[in-house]
Amino acid sequence: MKLEISYAAFGVRPPVVKPIPEFLLEVGEDGLRQLISKHYDAIKKSDIYHLFPQDDAEFEQAKVNSADFFIQICGGPAYFNTNRGAPRMVGRHAPFAIDAKAREIWLALYKPLLIELQNEGVTETSLQSFWGYLDIFSLWMVNTK
Ligand code: HEM
Repeated sequence: MKLEISYAAFGVRPPVVKPIPEFLLEVGEDGLRQLISKHYDAIKKSDIYHLFPQDDAEFEQAKVNSADFFIQICGGPAYFNTNRGAPRMVGRHAPFAIDAKAREIWLALYKPLLIELQNEGVTETSLQSFWGYLDIFSLWMVNTK
């Protein structure tokens, strides 16, 4: 599996391709919620934790909101639209100073988790597709030089 990080000039937003439907079919909604939860737990121990809610209850709720979004973008029910409204991801991230380094840390924290899923039998094609989505869309969230 090639989990490579792409780079782009500040402000450049390359076209994003959504994860293929097979990814959610293979991982399942519960599996995707677990993945997001583990990613947030890894964030808590990382150098970008200061960007995230410091209150434990709010942090747990952030996991739910994020997982709602990822299930939706991966082809599942529109949980995020129902619970939070239109995604507007760039706008929702605007209050947080996300620079290239923060994005790299955020993205890299997914690597071991995707390798874990591969070891559990999720196909490389599906994981590669999910990674490709994260890799490119995370560039859009960089809003600070
Ligand atoms: C580039 C690195 C990123 C950083 C540092 C970052 C940081 C954050 C922070 C601080 C929040 C607010 C706390 C929270 O609700 O979790 C947040 C929310 C969220 N992020 Fe990110 N994010 C990044 C990339 C992404 C990407 C690429 C996606 C989607 C593919 C995404 C999806 C979300 C979602 C769905 C929420 C919840 C929004 C809401 O419910 O209002 N984030 N992010």
